[in-house]
Amino acid sequence: MASKVWLVTGTSSGLGSEFVKAALGRGDKVIATARNVDNIAHLRELGAAVLQLDVTDPQAELDRKAIEAISVYGRIDVLVNNAGYTQFGTVEDTSHDDWYNQFNTNVFGTLNTTRSFLPHLRSNKTGTIIFVGSMVAWDGAPVVGAYCASKAAIHYAVESLSREVATFGIKTLLVEPGTFRTDLLTQKNSKSVETRFEDYKSLTEFMAGQFRMLDGNQAGDPRKGVECVIDVVKGENGTAGKEWPSQLPLGSDAVAAIRKKCEDTLQQLKMWEDLSTKSDI
Ligand SMILES: NC(=O)c1ccc[n+]([C@@H]2O[C@H](COP(=O)([O-])OP(=O)(O)OC[C@H]3O[C@@H](n4cnc5c(N)ncnc54)[C@H](OP(=O)(O)O)[C@@H]3O)[C@@H](O)[C@H]2O)c1
Repeated sequence: MASKVWLVTGTSSGLGSEFVKAALGRGDKVIATARNVDNIAHLRELGAAVLQLDVTDPQAELDRKAIEAISVYGRIDVLVNNAGYTQFGTVEDTSHDDWYNQFNTNVFGTLNTTRSFLPHLRSNKTGTIIFVGSMVAWDGAPVVGAYCASKAAIHYAVESLSREVATFGIKTLLVEPGTFRTDLLTQKNSKSVETRFEDYKSLTEFMAGQFRMLDGNQAGDPRKGVECVIDVVKGENGTAGKEWPSQLPLGSDAVAAIRKKCEDTLQQLKMWEDLSTKSDI
């Protein structure tokens, strides 16, 4: 398999950092990006090119960054939309701004970055765009609605995009991880709104306890996770010849959660089918 050129967003930690290291390790070229490039000096030392990129920058700035990125190796083959964070708080406690900021990074930032690279990929008539979604796109959990909604929004945006760009030779890959041991749930990388209402106290305290217990104990190994994704992109390690997975759950918890949602949905469809179909003219 010929060497590819990758550009990854949000590489200062977690899955983004592992994408850079793993792609370099497989002999590919990588442009690692971050809001603050001082935080990815170690990736430069490993052989990555580094570029400052905040996905919430205006479209014109992202367009300029894309041109700069393409000039490094003359092309981009794989764009990895990885940057993201989690907003905690109930729907009633979180504000319009909390939701806007969550969507501005996880959805608008992701789509704006993609839009910046699409002209290049279209003119090359090839390329892969990876979106790091989440299993939570399938089942909204309480006290983390803004995050779940942002990942659901990306899920459907990618379904549409994939059908728009397939004829240009561009593939999309929506990766939907379960829980992976990264900095995602740490106070440093997440935002939280405490409840103002007594009514939500027991639920929010319970969920905060669940997230605290999960942080540092997630089942998913970020290094193994990204290696699986790279296998799919490069058609290596048993993935060649299989139909391209437009959506790729990552982790046994993601597979179980998505399967349960599908089974529950089918069961509910069946239970309510008589009533649901009564409304036709
Ligand atoms: N870990 C999991 O269990 C899990 C599960 C499902 C999905 N995911 C998704 O995986 C992706 C990576 O998260 P992670 O788990 O690796 O967590 P992480 O360690 O917290 O990494 C998130 C990265 O996103 C960057 N970032 C945040 N806002 C940004 C912005 N506006 N522009 C550019 N970079 C930005 C952060 O960089 P800074 O240093 O600049 O803050 C950081 O490098 C996210 O989209 C997350 O939603 C993770």
